[in-house]
Parts: sequence; structure tokens; C-alpha cells
Amino acid sequence: MTDFIAGLPKCELHLHIEGTLEPELKFDLAARNGIALPYSSVEEIRAAYEFDSLTTFLKVYYEGMQVLRTEPDFYDLAMAYLRKAASQNVRYAEIFFDPQAHTSRGVPFDIVIRGLRRALLDAETQLGVRAQLIMCFLRDFQAEYAMATLLESLPYKEWIVGVGLDSDERGNPPAKFAAVYERARQEGYLLTMHCDVDQDNSVEHIRQAVQDIGVNRVDHGVNVLEDPGLVEEILEKGLGLTCCPISNGYVTESMKIEGIRKLLDLGVRVTINSDDPAYFNGYVQENLEALNFSEEDLVRLQRNAFEITWLPRHLKDGYLAELD
Ligand code: ADE
Ligand code: ZN
Repeated sequence: MTDFIAGLPKCELHLHIEGTLEPELKFDLAARNGIALPYSSVEEIRAAYEFDSLTTFLKVYYEGMQVLRTEPDFYDLAMAYLRKAASQNVRYAEIFFDPQAHTSRGVPFDIVIRGLRRALLDAETQLGVRAQLIMCFLRDFQAEYAMATLLESLPYKEWIVGVGLDSDERGNPPAKFAAVYERARQEGYLLTMHCDVDQDNSVEHIRQAVQDIGVNRVDHGVNVLEDPGLVEEILEKGLGLTCCPISNGYVTESMKIEGIRKLLDLGVRVTINSDDPAYFNGYVQENLEALNFSEEDLVRLQRNAFEITWLPRHLKDGYLAELD
């Protein structure tokens, strides 16, 4: 099965670029930027990766990205991920970035996006991996800061395919960002947002995202199974869900594979992704292996993924033809 998965043309739609920062690169960037890390080895860093909830994970995630300071840092981060993606036969990726995690500590927006953009262009020519950027707002900051970030992104609109919403979900429902999402839609951005697994009010958050905000897809969203009417609505609208089994296993008590299986069988466009692979020890290959699904189901998952990409129809069709 490992070889079968390795050979499949794959797609990654839920991947935080800051969550691909491997300990080795963390050390290199710290040295380059003259930053002292509270760890003396890669092993020590890995040993500190102990999470049992979204909150405990996010603390380590935000701490880790402090080493990212300059345009070449963001270039190197994205290039390292895209090399890894190419090695796993990922043909296309939609990549989240968290500008506020950088602007809030004094790193300018344009430094972040220029570094990432340059890597995407090089990856396409040098590695044959296509990618687009999705800008995420941090939901535990005020909506006004998200709006300011949205406005700051407008000169770079051609480089960003859509917007997302991530970080700590408790007490930060989709409704908090309704005006930001409305403006993003008017500006031509496509819309997604995290409805993380097993958070307080997960189902209500999915309902708000789908019915009130009108998202184009939902990140995670497995809890929709608790509301059959909402499953029906997601089916009718053809909305995709970007699920992340290994990540689920870290931030909840289970990878939620049964739920993913059920959604796939119901015909919902579920997809398998890695979320924060440097922290959760698994890229897309390992996430697909964790499922123990049949070859036929693995192909269905990849068909779903290419189908819900934010690519023009002719490019989608090109990738889908490779799965025939
Ligand atoms: N930011 C990075 N990874 C995240 C996740 N899994 N959930 C919410 N915010 C995140
Ligand atoms: Zn995520």
C-alpha cells in the first residue's frame, strides 16, 4: 500500500507553511538570525513536541516560528516544504500562511509574502509542483486586525487565491469575522475556514461557516456528522472538507478515521491532508497510509482533492486525467 500511495498523483489542500518548519531548519534559521534557542539539539526540540489539545499545540507552533525573520527565511521554509511535497508526488498544493503571526512581532507583511511567492515560482519551474497561497486570519485576534490584514493584502491579491481562518477556536466563532469575509468575497478571494475537530460548538461553527458566511469549503469539519441535515446541505452544495487524520490524533483523542470513512461513503468530498507535518510527524503520504483504506478509496480521495482545488477547470481536468 505504501508504494501504491507513493505512486498516486497527490494534492494537499490543508497545510500551514509555518507548520512545516522542521527542527533542522529551525536551528539553521536561528543561527542565521543570531537567535538563541532554548534547545541544544534537534532531538531536544522534538522531545518538546508534546501536545494533547489545539491550545497546547498552538503554543509550541507560535514559539517555533520566531526564527522566521527575513525574506530568504520564508523562501527557504516554503522551498523545503515543496521539495518534500515533490518527493511524495504531490502535484499541487494550496498553502496556508499566517501573516499576523509575523506582523504581530514586527515582521512586515511584504517580507512574508515575497519570500513565499518566490519559492512557489521556483518550485513550479524547478520541481514541477504547482502551488497557490491562502491567507489565514488568526481568530483569537480581533476582527479589526483581520480586516486591516485583508486590506494590507490587496496589493498582492494576484498572489493569493483565498482566505482562511485558523488558531484558537474556543470563543472565536465564524460570525466574529462575517464582515471580514464579506469584504474578502467582494475582493475576489475564495473562502474557507477551520472548524477544528471536537472544539466547543464545532457543529454550530460549521453551520455558521456554510450558511451565514457561505464558505467555498471547510477545513476539518468532521463533526458535521452530528447534524445529518447539515451533511445533506454540504452534499448538495458539493463543498469539500479538508481532513487531517494524524493532526486529529494529536489535538483530540482520535484520528477520526471512522468519521472520514462515513463521510466518504456518503459522497461528501472529503480529502486527506497533513496540517502541520513538522509537528505531527506525517506529510500527506503518511496521512494516507494511516487510513488503511482500499486502493479504490484512496483514488476517490485524490479525485475529491483535485476536484475541490481552487484551480481553473482545465488544470483540474489535467490532474484528474492522471488518476484514470
Ligand atoms: N494553525 C496551525 N495549525 C492549526 C490547526 N490545526 N488548527 C487551528 N489553527 C492552526
Ligand atoms: Zn489547520
